[in-house]
Amino acid sequence: MNGVKWILLLEDNPRDAELIEHALQRGTSGFRVEHADSRRAFIHCIKQRVPDLILSDFSLPTLDGYTALSIAQKKCPDVPFIFVSGTLGEETAIETLKQGATDYVLKAHLSRLVPSVQRALREAKERTGRRRAQEQLRRSHKQLRTLSVHLQQVREAEQIRIAREVHDELGQALTGLKLQLIWLASRLPRQSKLLHAKVRSMAMNIDETILAVRRIATELRPGVLDTAGLLPALEWQANQFQTQTGIVCEVKARMKETLWDQDLNTAFFRIFQEALTNVIRHAKASKVEVRLAEEDGEVVLEVKDNGRAISQTEIHNTNSIGLLGMRERAALLGGNVFIQGERGKGTILTARIPKPSRKRIRLHLHENINHRRPRRRA
Ligand SMILES: Nc1ncnc2c1ncn2[C@@H]1O[C@H](COP(=O)(O)OP(=O)(O)OP(=O)(O)O)[C@@H](O)[C@H]1O
Ligand SMILES: [Mg+2]
Repeated sequence: MNGVKWILLLEDNPRDAELIEHALQRGTSGFRVEHADSRRAFIHCIKQRVPDLILSDFSLPTLDGYTALSIAQKKCPDVPFIFVSGTLGEETAIETLKQGATDYVLKAHLSRLVPSVQRALREAKERTGRRRAQEQLRRSHKQLRTLSVHLQQVREAEQIRIAREVHDELGQALTGLKLQLIWLASRLPRQSKLLHAKVRSMAMNIDETILAVRRIATELRPGVLDTAGLLPALEWQANQFQTQTGIVCEVKARMKETLWDQDLNTAFFRIFQEALTNVIRHAKASKVEVRLAEEDGEVVLEVKDNGRAISQTEIHNTNSIGLLGMRERAALLGGNVFIQGERGKGTILTARIPKPSRKRIRLHLHENINHRRPRRRA
């Protein structure tokens, strides 16, 4: 039965129904007509099976045209609806189209019926195709978003794990090594100057390696973010940035309390890092002002530089992965990132994320404490 179109014909006059059906069958094959002659029969038919198209008389004793149209729009909004009427003034005809009818055909001109039905079915098919494509696009966009969120979370978790492993395992092993070296030095004969010098240089090497290990662990994930909260982590990062680049970086905060939500802290911290990287790479700025505040239940981070100012084209460039990543991070937590450039003044990036509930904060604190590996003795 594939390809056969079901047409529901709402018509109380049996002779007219026969004429309409005849006109359809004569015009083309591939239609099955179901006949309803009252409001009850009409609703029953629609409930039994959604038709591919509805043909309706304009005035029936139990139902007027507009009511039939509105019932169809409620029950099966995508099905084309054509009025087939004996008399339909121009104004009424226009009004039916305004109300959402697909077309109207006068009974005196039934030769128009088949072309009108065919066009309506074709257009409905195109509409359905378009909607399916849009739905597909929306679905795949959602999947991509979920994937990107998942990848970010996996990456962050991995960085936390490696940072802790590097810090705890390597750091403690090196400290142990240094203690053993001190033990060894204490037992070396006093006069073995060469051996003492060698031990000192080895100890220095170990100290440097401990510093390198700490640096690597901190770059992967600054511990201060989890132990002291967002603001100290931002201050630490700003300090690092200023020392490394010579660009002045000031952090001002108007926060009532330290934030402990790990997702929120991570999001703001990574957004901040990306914003600072952009300042180094693109802004040609000499100063960065950072503001962290709580406004109307949202945490707001503002990073303002006095550089060359980002352009509108750059802001809206869909290939800007850095900017996209910042927006995605904020969007994941129900927030947004807004970037603005003003010639002669610089660039302002504003990230806003709603403050998390206390329950979520407690949960993260708990997780954070439980996930810390027990310290091994050196
Ligand atoms: N603070 C800024 N001042 C001036 N221009 C900026 C600033 N931040 C970003 N831009 C412009 O916006 C563009 C997009 O930034 P985005 O971070 O998305 O990409 P990127 O830094 O070029 O590369 P990556 O994807 O590695 O971050 C940059 O290439 C730059 O032209
Ligand atoms: Mg970038």
